[in-house]
Amino acid sequence: MNSFEAIKTIGERLTQRSIYAEHQIYDVRIDSAALASSDDVAMLRHNQHQVLLRAYQSRYVLLPTMTPVGSIVEQLHRHYDPQEIAALERLRPSLEAELIEPWVTMARCSAPSIDLTDYIERLVVELRTQAQTPFVAYLRGCHHHEHHYRNFLIQSSADLLAEASASALGIVGEFGAPQSALFRILIDEFGYGVHERKHSVLYRAVMRDFGLCSEYNAYWPLFDTVTLELHNTIHYLFQNPRNFFMQIGFLLFAETAYQHSTRDHWHYLREFYPKVDARYFAEHAHIDLHHTRIVIDEVIAPLLKTYGEEVGREIMVGAELTKRSFDAAAAHLLAVSRAFDAAVIAKQAIYASPDNASLDTALPEVASLGSAITPAMATLIDNPKARIRVGGLGWITKAHAFTSFPEGTIGRLTETEE
Ligand SMILES: [Fe+2]
Ligand SMILES: [Fe+2]
Repeated sequence: MNSFEAIKTIGERLTQRSIYAEHQIYDVRIDSAALASSDDVAMLRHNQHQVLLRAYQSRYVLLPTMTPVGSIVEQLHRHYDPQEIAALERLRPSLEAELIEPWVTMARCSAPSIDLTDYIERLVVELRTQAQTPFVAYLRGCHHHEHHYRNFLIQSSADLLAEASASALGIVGEFGAPQSALFRILIDEFGYGVHERKHSVLYRAVMRDFGLCSEYNAYWPLFDTVTLELHNTIHYLFQNPRNFFMQIGFLLFAETAYQHSTRDHWHYLREFYPKVDARYFAEHAHIDLHHTRIVIDEVIAPLLKTYGEEVGREIMVGAELTKRSFDAAAAHLLAVSRAFDAAVIAKQAIYASPDNASLDTALPEVASLGSAITPAMATLIDNPKARIRVGGLGWITKAHAFTSFPEGTIGRLTETEE
């Protein structure tokens, strides 16, 4: 079903759909062109995640920040064409079954056989007392941390530039007092109605202060597979009402973990970049303490009281699934940073910010993006002029150096000009 052929077909359809897009926000392309010349399974997996990303993105409102050249109504009608959305929806269940549900099964097996109340007590203590976030610790000991931070901001932007859109999709319906408590969290995520304080707006400010484009979807070509996996796991949870109790487990884990990691980021930015707008992190270090309490006292407690231990189990599965996804994304980010640093030391890579010029206007040309490549695919490159962009970090100048990068890294292959 989700074979090379099926992905190539939907990829062509998504490219056709993007031809008339006047803004990156309506760019729904994926990297299916890379499948035409390769049977690399990691590239197939990356494309499958990209299709799932496009399916999820099609289910919430996106408007460009700048006035488009043509009619916005036409753009909107074209982008949200029901037939196009239906084509993605047809693939969604099997993609979710293949890409996400094995992790759900693993979380079901690994969730401990204890009461949810004991689980929460343990989780809260564990998360609040853990050592400094490993990535932040790495940055502190690294000479070129600015580039590593840029990559972190880009990879995280997949979710954070539309922060809380996923959980907002889980809030509609009719489910008693917990719904109102969840809505209070949601309204905080949206700046309690003050646009300038909306979390995604605060995140934009950090990106801009690091010289990055802050438009949603602009950096999709630089997302690693692991980045998409985290994004898609969150949307899998919230875009399927059957996962309601797992959604609560997500919130339990995410709100609690975020207090700690955002505090570390805030301290790091204050120390090394005092001029950078770090309100995004300061706000979370504070408000997520309240969000954890709301989830525990006003959502989980009444759900347990009404529905019993069966839902406690499901909440734990959601928390364990979230933990695995967060851990995998964090470990990957750090591994890519280490691999890039090693390549720079070996004179096989150079640090460089992404070129934002092509992002300022309409859709970047495929040629300027470069073609997508996995570490395994790099073994076949013998062109001495080849260079590979790795996320927000810079360029690999000796292609074979990319072969040792962790699985789930995506590079953009081009040629040097000289
Ligand atoms: Fe937030
Ligand atoms: Fe929060």
